[in-house]
Amino acid sequence: MLRNRVVSLGFSLALLMAPVVLAQSSQLAATPPMGWNSWNHFAGKVTDADVRAAADALVSSGMRDAGYIYVNIDDTWQGRRDANGVIHPNSKFPDMKALADYVHSKGLKLGIYSGPGPKTCAGYEGSYGHEEQDAKTYAEWGIDYLKYDLCSFTRLMKQQTGDEHSEKAFEMQKAAYEKMHKALVATGRPIVFSLCQYGWNDVWKWGTEVGGNLWRTTGDINDHYSRMEEIGFSQAGLSKYAAPGHWNDPDMLEVGNGGMTDDEYRQHMSLWVILAAPLLAGNDLSKMSPETLAILTNKDVIAVDQDKLGKQGDRVWAEGPTEIWAKPLSGGAKAVALFNRAPDPKPITLKLSEVGFGSNAKMRDLWAGKDVTATNGSYTVLLPKHGVVLLRVSQ
Ligand code: GLA
Repeated sequence: MLRNRVVSLGFSLALLMAPVVLAQSSQLAATPPMGWNSWNHFAGKVTDADVRAAADALVSSGMRDAGYIYVNIDDTWQGRRDANGVIHPNSKFPDMKALADYVHSKGLKLGIYSGPGPKTCAGYEGSYGHEEQDAKTYAEWGIDYLKYDLCSFTRLMKQQTGDEHSEKAFEMQKAAYEKMHKALVATGRPIVFSLCQYGWNDVWKWGTEVGGNLWRTTGDINDHYSRMEEIGFSQAGLSKYAAPGHWNDPDMLEVGNGGMTDDEYRQHMSLWVILAAPLLAGNDLSKMSPETLAILTNKDVIAVDQDKLGKQGDRVWAEGPTEIWAKPLSGGAKAVALFNRAPDPKPITLKLSEVGFGSNAKMRDLWAGKDVTATNGSYTVLLPKHGVVLLRVSQ
């Protein structure tokens, strides 16, 4: 009798707690996640010391206070599984729990990386067949964010269905993401779930359904203008799929990695904030130039990305290499970006009526940090090669 009561009490508690956990998970990433990820700069060389240095630099540079909270370890942290199947980090990461404690002590959160296949993209241990166990291990360590990369799972999709792009393979893929999401929810720890499968099968249409808080919409970025613009400007038309808790992810930032000019990095940052993209810095934070820091921490620019309305922007006008994109902001304002993709200077004219404002609208140039005015409802600027002007427009 007593035992039955205990069982039924436990059962009712579990029933009561389930919605709490689910509600918690849907409140994650109310605005696009901000932080740092190890891959773009450190790739396979990342160590515990690099991650601690990144956490230190986020605090000392003011980036944490500007909103960069997640410290995300990408691929190559994984070691072997023990006799019970429990994953252990490799020798580059001697004590993951101690690292999480360190990161948390700085007011930051720790992210990690795995995938549904037997191996990750860099050939390290994946979560295949160990999903619940890995989610539990991450929660015990104190992990707050998981990037889950398809990689070798595509081989299983091909083996089992004959074609990794078939409808059956697609179902397998969705099930694999859902499985890890359920495992994360079951830990009771709020863990942001980041899908990484390069935009296959229009992931923006079903990423939410399988528990994704964000999903990569493209293949990998690199530190060249041509790749950044290819990825960034290809995002036109995806705005309707983003909402609080669920974001399109055109990949991490390259700002400060050295392969682009400051104008190009400002264009990269402007486009990403217009896209309500996750802002994951990918540079060596312990060696940043003042220009890099200024690009990453401009408060007015970050406010465009993090606006609580949670609407992604989209292209509103284009003529050759010049484009205008706009993003609705709370209170009826809009962020409007004027881009020059050409390798030489180009004039560009914004007609306020084209972005839904009257000719007396207020305009602030967010990179220049000053108010600007339209003449007869038009605003013309000469943009340098690969330049940008990012405006906040309000009536
Ligand atoms: C894939 C991902 C990258 C990175 C690497 C790590 O290429 O798209 O972002 O995580 O794997 O191996």
